[in-house]
Amino acid sequence: MRLQDLLSSGLPGSKPEPKSLRRLFLDVSIVTASFPKPAWRLYVRSVTDIADIGATWEMELGATLGRWRDRILDYPPIFDFIRELLDPSRNNIHQIQRDLKFDETRILDIGCGTGRLLVLARDTSVSWVGIDVNRSFVSSLNSILPENASLALMSADAMGFRDMSFDVAIMLDLTHHLSDRQVVTTLQHAKRLAHKRILVVDPIYVAGNPFRKLLCKMDRGSHIRTASELTELVGSAGSIVEQPSIFKSGLHMKCRVSIRFKP
Ligand SMILES: C[S@@+](CC[C@H](N)C(=O)[O-])C[C@H]1O[C@@H](n2cnc3c(N)ncnc32)[C@H](O)[C@@H]1O
Repeated sequence: MRLQDLLSSGLPGSKPEPKSLRRLFLDVSIVTASFPKPAWRLYVRSVTDIADIGATWEMELGATLGRWRDRILDYPPIFDFIRELLDPSRNNIHQIQRDLKFDETRILDIGCGTGRLLVLARDTSVSWVGIDVNRSFVSSLNSILPENASLALMSADAMGFRDMSFDVAIMLDLTHHLSDRQVVTTLQHAKRLAHKRILVVDPIYVAGNPFRKLLCKMDRGSHIRTASELTELVGSAGSIVEQPSIFKSGLHMKCRVSIRFKP
């Protein structure tokens, strides 16, 4: 197949970089005019150009696949199904429950998703408030809320509740969706809102296991950290890290950090 054919039969929606193409054809004209001296240069440039174009296609293919993954995962039943497969809820709920004290009855669930922590409010006197930025999750959850639970479409780093409205703020599988700066801002909000404690549970990156590495790469959150990076980041927000611990949940390794703020 000729190079030109390869370039024009691009992936749907992808465009080869026009500058590289123009440069390539210019090279071809130069080389035909003064063959054979600059032939090696043509060779080197062509290889670079092909690599450039390949990289552009790879990026565009990655972006297209990412968009499809997001569309599919925004559908709550599919999200729940895949999440249960990779990271069963019972492990996470157990980790959260073992840390909750009996007097912590006002819970803020930051990045509540499809509401797997709603179980904490079912048939209890706990009051549960969930916030999330995903419109599709929030509207599907709205229809199944018990009386002692409520929900808001809101970003973690811009939560508009009154100070001390909660006893405990929980961030389950949220921080890998947030940049370092967003995590710090979210923790500062959480500190203002939840006067007793904050619980952070998140998947962590563990070197050496190629399958887990792939899983981290495919995740929608692009900030999966190591356990020490996560603990350090949480600590840098002016908090006292009480109990960092690592546990296995399905195919993920996770870090659980319980924190309280310095007075
Ligand atoms: C992996 S899901 C976890 C959901 C839920 N906590 C659970 O454990 O099933 C991450 C959630 O964080 C939400 N999220 C991402 N960025 C956010 C932000 N800036 N503010 C609030 N929620 C956010 C996503 O919409 C998604 O629902």
